[in-house]
Amino acid sequence: MNTVKTVRELRAAVARARSEGKRIGFVPTMGNLHSGHAALVTKAAQRADFVVASIFVNPLQFGANEDLDKYPRTLAADQERLLQAGCNLLFAPTVDEMYPDGMSVQTRVSVPQLSEGLCGASRPGHFEGVATVVTKLFNMVQPDLAVFGEKDFQQLAVIRAMVRDLNMPIQVIGEPTVRAEDGLALSSRNGYLTPEQRATAPALYRTLQHIAAAIGRGQRDFAALVAEGQAQLTAAGFRPDYLEVRHAVSLRPAMFDDRDLVVIAAAYLGNTRLIDNLYLHVEEKTA
Ligand code: PAF
Repeated sequence: MNTVKTVRELRAAVARARSEGKRIGFVPTMGNLHSGHAALVTKAAQRADFVVASIFVNPLQFGANEDLDKYPRTLAADQERLLQAGCNLLFAPTVDEMYPDGMSVQTRVSVPQLSEGLCGASRPGHFEGVATVVTKLFNMVQPDLAVFGEKDFQQLAVIRAMVRDLNMPIQVIGEPTVRAEDGLALSSRNGYLTPEQRATAPALYRTLQHIAAAIGRGQRDFAALVAEGQAQLTAAGFRPDYLEVRHAVSLRPAMFDDRDLVVIAAAYLGNTRLIDNLYLHVEEKTA
């Protein structure tokens, strides 16, 4: 696996693969890779002949008080993991390579509506930063397909909408969340948790499961379910940011007859903000 740092080298390597008739798969990441990322690369390797991954901690998607500076940078370990998972080429650009004229004059891509609410409400500008960098990376790599984790459910919805709205000829594939044995969704931010917080953390997924199970049994008082879930999270030691039941595609608030739902949450343990979600399809009852 080769690592390149410039767009020029990236384009040359991808052009070589394409001239050999290879289908290009792409996995954008911010590094500090875990088995969840490895699953994205494995999926890309199953669907494409040449897999490009990127590692770029994108300043444009971090708010002023967020963890940009302390976000873990672990390039050597990441390279090993990517190699094992079947990656062919790593693109690891600098901030200057990605934003040569600086970020203030960078053209932005914004996806209305889907970017508002949920994580967009507590992280203003976040999804514009994501949509902008993913557009740039897509234009640099020009992949046939790209794989994203379903753990970032709203991000995946934003990227799908962006690809559709801007007619990007790229197939977007969602890969199910990889979880620790106790249910905690794998995330680079789990590394910030103290041992005590790590022991509490699985309560987030348990709360989502509890709500999803109640909906599965026919409960439709979403507000009551959410209120109960918020109380559970608070009792466990979380500071909930949001906990909601939404329509899984449009992300609007769930309605009584919706069949495709997502229970979605963000909550703090100390200063660490964890997100998780649980998709559920409600079967139509036959009389
Ligand atoms: O999900 C992430 O790691 C990032 O938001 C992404 C898609 C690599 C864009 O910086």
